[in-house]
Amino acid sequence: MTELSLKRLLVTGGSGFIGSNFVRHWAQQRPGEKIWVLDALTYAGNAKTLADLVETGAVELVKGDICDRTLVTTLLQDHAIDAVVHFAAESHVDRSILGPEAFVQTNVVGTFTLLEAFRQYWQAQGQPSQFRFLHVSTDEVYGSLGPEDPAFSETTPYAPNSPYSASKAGSDHLARAYFHTYGLPTLITNCSNNYGPYHFPEKLIPLMCVNMLLGKPLPVYGDGQNIRDWLYVEDHCRAIDRVLHQAQPGETYNIGGQAEVKNIDLVHTLCDLMDELAEDLPVRPCRDLITFVKDRPGHDRRYAMDITKIQTQLGWSPSVTLEQGLRQTVQWYLTHRDWWMPLLSAEYQSYYRKIYG
Ligand code: NAD
Ligand code: TYD
Repeated sequence: MTELSLKRLLVTGGSGFIGSNFVRHWAQQRPGEKIWVLDALTYAGNAKTLADLVETGAVELVKGDICDRTLVTTLLQDHAIDAVVHFAAESHVDRSILGPEAFVQTNVVGTFTLLEAFRQYWQAQGQPSQFRFLHVSTDEVYGSLGPEDPAFSETTPYAPNSPYSASKAGSDHLARAYFHTYGLPTLITNCSNNYGPYHFPEKLIPLMCVNMLLGKPLPVYGDGQNIRDWLYVEDHCRAIDRVLHQAQPGETYNIGGQAEVKNIDLVHTLCDLMDELAEDLPVRPCRDLITFVKDRPGHDRRYAMDITKIQTQLGWSPSVTLEQGLRQTVQWYLTHRDWWMPLLSAEYQSYYRKIYG
């Protein structure tokens, strides 16, 4: 299979969880190639996360909004960008229930702004066929599965249920339309729940890790029987790299970890790993901290991904088992208090009270 040679990457949302892991992956794979990161550094973005790579000059971090068309155009032109990898988003379902507007603004208007700026830049360059715009999306656009339903495939109709997934669905449709209408070389990836280092402690796995280390209750929504498929973030980054270099423009790929598990079983595993790995814990065993709380409104019951297409067409498969990935993740939160402690700010506490009372 022929591989593209992309050299000048603009990564949006590169100071967030998956974006920063992707930037690290890229910097390791291609030392000497500079990466431009555009990130608004919202509550979920953290300049500290990539500080070492900024220091060495491998990364240039530009603080700015993807809705700022002038800024985006300037970045594309000044740095002769040939690929945009678009992670920037409002990404947390519970926050989208509290305040959906920011989700429409960043996820829909922001993606539109990037696509428009990239289209005009690409057209002005004579429409180079090797340019790429890779839009990172989610399995949540497909809606919710029953226990016996087949996993989501790339042809499953969209049926988003939360303001978050609806805004991501809107942005996916725009990326698709720009390929069909203008021939812009866009790609879409829909991935399942990621986990790993540098994950903001509002999502299930990092929240559980941080709360266990602080001896705080572990809030499980509803009956804890909801099912998610978990993808180790480094595997996801390898998949995006593969899609960027090998996929045909206009294609969509589902990416999953082949690790479906009920929330309560996942939390039990995390508790047992923490008991095993941590020397000092305020409460032991961690399972004593588990507390069932009021369910999330519109809580999707089950997500599952059929990854046959990326496996057969691009030869990618997850390399990390759930047990291995969770062990590495728990270990990372144990040894990176300096990264997550400062995130438990007044804004975080206020958000926490709104969700958990
Ligand atoms: P994140 O919330 O950790 O990071 C988002 C980043 O985007 C932050 O650095 C934030 O500062 C930045 N950002 C937000 N609004 C911006 C704006 N207007 N302009 C510029 N930057 C802005 O999110 P994540 O978990 O790393 O997710 C990355 C992408 O992957 C998102 O598009 C998300 O929808 C998708 N995704 C995530 C998961 C997951 O499990 N985390 C699963 C499926 C899909
Ligand atoms: P989350 O990490 O928010 O990802 P998503 O909603 O995008 O799948 O949640 C994963 C699952 O864990 C989901 O079913 C909701 C549940 N959950 C809890 O039970 N308690 C919590 O405190 C959180 C944040 C999530």
